[in-house]
Amino acid sequence: MTPILLDSRSLANELKNNLKARIIGLQKTKNITPGLAVIRIGDDLASKSYVASKCRQCQEVGINSKEYYFPSITSMESILKLIYQLNTTYIVHGILLQLPLPMHLDAFKLIQAIDPLKDVDGLHPQNLGTLSLGQPTVIPCTPKGCLALLKSHKENIKGLHVVIVGRSILVGRPLAMLLLKEDCSVTVLHSKSQNVPAITKTADILIAAVGQPKFIQKEWVQPGAIVLDVGINHIQGRDGQIKIVGDVDFENVSQVASAITPVPGGIGPMTVVSLLENTVEAAVKQISLK
Ligand SMILES: NC(=O)c1ccc[n+]([C@@H]2O[C@H](COP(=O)([O-])OP(=O)(O)OC[C@H]3O[C@@H](n4cnc5c(N)ncnc54)[C@H](OP(=O)(O)O)[C@@H]3O)[C@@H](O)[C@H]2O)c1
Repeated sequence: MTPILLDSRSLANELKNNLKARIIGLQKTKNITPGLAVIRIGDDLASKSYVASKCRQCQEVGINSKEYYFPSITSMESILKLIYQLNTTYIVHGILLQLPLPMHLDAFKLIQAIDPLKDVDGLHPQNLGTLSLGQPTVIPCTPKGCLALLKSHKENIKGLHVVIVGRSILVGRPLAMLLLKEDCSVTVLHSKSQNVPAITKTADILIAAVGQPKFIQKEWVQPGAIVLDVGINHIQGRDGQIKIVGDVDFENVSQVASAITPVPGGIGPMTVVSLLENTVEAAVKQISLK
């Protein structure tokens, strides 16, 4: 079976063009340009490149963005001070705390300090709680991107069995809530789960968010399943070069899946577009409350 490749780049470009037009409209009718503040702490190379890419894509669509960098030894107090300041800065509509953080920092406490209206990552307990209740709210970027890409391939996913491998706050948990809202039957697996291959094999839609290169094997996948690979892992190739691979053994799983996302070029671009969309939505919401 040759699977459909769920390459998201053209969908991401289409969504970005829609956003560009929407932002021009906001500037004309409301005299407002959406603004995003990105806080990056420490010298994680992947985070540095993700933030650069997010800011570059903000610029492409017309969102004002600014990166606030702190060295890894920074105290909680300094970051909290900045967050409180950004919460009251009227030209900033979205605040993104780039994860992961250095070990000594409490991500939960910092996210909790962000004004829920400016929480464009959708990770504030108020927003995650609202999502769990199945009510409209800001959707975390990667889950939002996964759903948009999935639905661009298969509109009706009601009643399908989705197995998500990974239960992180960033991906697995909110994705489970989002897919429950879409009337899917959802199973979430994690590092203590037993019989992982037997359970993944029952999935109509299998989503891997594990953080382990090529974790999902061909034998674990039901023939005809749709496979979304959220993983981004940097490994050394046979030629000694560092390359990016997902959490799915793409080459072999492609032999049984009906559709599969590539890495890179699958979920990654959708995550960034979702961030841009959430920033524009946040700006619109904040204007309407004035
Ligand atoms: N494409 C994108 O835009 C994007 C966005 C975010 C993340 N990512 C990538 O997605 C991957 C996951 O990210 P994350 O933030 O969710 O990672 P994370 O916080 O490390 O969570 C990993 C999850 O996988 C589970 N897990 C680990 N080993 C397992 C095993 N042997 N069997 C079953 N489950 C296992 C963990 O279980 P426990 O809870 O029991 O520890 C945890 O729930 C990473 O590669 C990350 O770089 C990509």
